[in-house]
Amino acid sequence: MSQQKFNVYSILILTGLMIAGWVWTTGPALSENSGEQVKVFRPGEVWLDTSGNPINAHGGGILYHKGIYYWYGELKKGKTYAPESNKSWSGTRVDVEGISCYSSHDLYTWKYEGNVLPSVKNDPQHDLHPSKVVERPKVIYNQRTGKFVMWMHIDSSDYKVSRSGVAVGDTPTSPFRYMGSIRPNAGFWPVNVTEQDKKNSSNNKLARDFQGGQMARDMTIFQDDDGKAYHFYSSEDNATQHVSLLSDDYLRPAGKYARIFIGRSMEAAAVFKFKGKYYFIGSDCTGWDPNPARSATADSIWGPWKELGNPCIGEDAEKTFGAQSTFVLPVVGKPNAVIFMADRWNKDNLPDSRYVWLPLQFTPEGKININWIDQWSLSKL
Ligand code: GAL
Repeated sequence: MSQQKFNVYSILILTGLMIAGWVWTTGPALSENSGEQVKVFRPGEVWLDTSGNPINAHGGGILYHKGIYYWYGELKKGKTYAPESNKSWSGTRVDVEGISCYSSHDLYTWKYEGNVLPSVKNDPQHDLHPSKVVERPKVIYNQRTGKFVMWMHIDSSDYKVSRSGVAVGDTPTSPFRYMGSIRPNAGFWPVNVTEQDKKNSSNNKLARDFQGGQMARDMTIFQDDDGKAYHFYSSEDNATQHVSLLSDDYLRPAGKYARIFIGRSMEAAAVFKFKGKYYFIGSDCTGWDPNPARSATADSIWGPWKELGNPCIGEDAEKTFGAQSTFVLPVVGKPNAVIFMADRWNKDNLPDSRYVWLPLQFTPEGKININWIDQWSLSKL
């Protein structure tokens, strides 16, 4: 072997070892500790799936079904760019690719199950055309129909259309059938409407959209223990949140909804139940840029909702550790394990946005606390 060849081989071997080392230490959230393999979450790092690719499931949510966790999220690929219409507010985007699904038995190791709702490339009018916005997918299982129902935010690239889309799957990982999109609750007043709310005026978005349906941007779905499901969406130009009951098949609004956090401009809603109380975590409206998280609790899903302030504590708490809420998962079978899930958006390179998952705790006064931890595991909770 010539000296030159030897050098080339050693460089190749060294590079290989470095890549292997990087794969081993960065994901899928596994690490080696005193020779023993432990599973940990490393918020903000690159998380790899079982094939060694970065997990691509942004603005996502988790479905737990028959002992398996399914993580659905926005598949963000390609070039990040700002359309002319969004330049004033740094509204960058990537073209729509679809909705990814990953499965896991333990929440650390994720297998890619595919793009379960691919974009529709040949019809520029279609809600799922690459030029549109498809964000914050959430999937729940309907016991009565045996179907998996996905709701998501559908929009034009300038976010003016403000609709919610629905898709249905026969299994958690099968391709979902897209059913279309709506502006929710057309022709219905909220249960807590006032006479003043019904009067048309230049800044009354609720009355303006009464006929055509309410604006719906950032959204989540919450499924209650009794099987009822609720759609939370940022409405009235993001000023007010609506909580809206879904029909028994989960495919449309049931026509009953309430206005909550009126005028508080909340988005990125994540809703969960703990020990019989409802909790809401959200953010202020600052696009991809982080801001202080908000939290709230209620005895009834219809309110009144009592705000509890920013649940984050410590350094970078006022920026939610550089992230924005997307989901909260109370872990089945582990009564004290509740995971706060958030996206650390990279607005200049959206596909490289990261996941920030942190344990969420309750104070004796009933408030929520979220502390930053570099590396943690469920076994410690
Ligand atoms: C955020 C929202 C994201 C996305 C982004 C676009 O406020 O939470 O889901 O819509 O704006 O800039």
